[in-house]
Amino acid sequence: MIIQKKSDIIPSEITPREVFENRRKFLQQAGFGLLAGAAAGLLANPSYAALGKSTSLHRVSNSLIKLPPFSKSQYGGGEKLTPYEDVTTYNNYYEFGTSKDEPAIHSKLFKPVPWTVSIEGQVKKNKTISIEDILKLAPLEERIYRMRCIEGWSMVIPWIGFPLAQLIKWAEPNANAKYVEFTSLADAHQMPGVNLPVLDWPYVEGLRMDEAMNPLTIMAVGLYGEALPNQNGAPMRLVVPWKYGIKGAKAIVKIRFTEEMPITTWMKAIPSEYGFYSNVNPQVPHPRWTQTSEKRIGAGLFAGRIKTLMFNGYTEQVGHMYAGMDLRKNF
Ligand code: MTE
Repeated sequence: MIIQKKSDIIPSEITPREVFENRRKFLQQAGFGLLAGAAAGLLANPSYAALGKSTSLHRVSNSLIKLPPFSKSQYGGGEKLTPYEDVTTYNNYYEFGTSKDEPAIHSKLFKPVPWTVSIEGQVKKNKTISIEDILKLAPLEERIYRMRCIEGWSMVIPWIGFPLAQLIKWAEPNANAKYVEFTSLADAHQMPGVNLPVLDWPYVEGLRMDEAMNPLTIMAVGLYGEALPNQNGAPMRLVVPWKYGIKGAKAIVKIRFTEEMPITTWMKAIPSEYGFYSNVNPQVPHPRWTQTSEKRIGAGLFAGRIKTLMFNGYTEQVGHMYAGMDLRKNF
């Protein structure tokens, strides 16, 4: 695993503090309604402010996307956020390379607009919908979620998104729809990693219908108050906080409702190591390493490992969905 060093960041990409402050003033003076309020709220949030002081705010704002206003939510208040710089430079996105620093470097020219998503399978609205129309389906809100990667590290990320349930309700799946399959873009022209046979492209993930409808499951279109950076899955990616990060398919172009359990990319690649459920579970080790603890990225060199919690600490909200299931078999 490689953490991008500060020295790897091109100086022109670091937004000087004054520019950032001026942009905030401009938004307030222009009276951009909710958007300005949200941006101001963002800066008033003590954890955001603290991070501003302690990091260089290496911002990679996705200027190609216009993010509608969003509101705060009750999710995750009080959690110490992972610095923006770590969230946007320590990524898994094999379409842009297999090292953690490669997605930020190789996705700079990726174009997340125009964008459409194809809705397919056991569903009434079997059609293609634009990202603009998706954004009209539900109001956006900020959700601060703990994210646990299957590799043993974790982050706390302030996502901006909407419940996946809203998109599913709009799509009107029929009674045969038992699962939802998500497919990421695989464009060899824009995504250099797709030219390598490291995975069977495109990247595919899946959820059981009740998991997809759970209020915690969101489609994220932003983080840290702005549109999703390319390396985090612009323009839209899945976020399922009680599962390993592997579930969070990025740059989604297809959502298919199925009767059968989808075969995910990682199940196909190494079935003995990656199952369909991917629930965070400290009692079930990965065949090659323990899952009992995690390293919080950005917590500092001397921070110890944190105990990993069942369902990443979200048991109250999701535990009921797995009652009676053997989670050693269904890993
Ligand atoms: N989606 C696609 N299309 N390709 C990927 O390689 N990696 C997954 C997930 N979504 C991946 C993906 C893994 S393993 C993780 S841990 C998360 O993205 C990381 O998300 P982040 O980089 O925004 O933290």
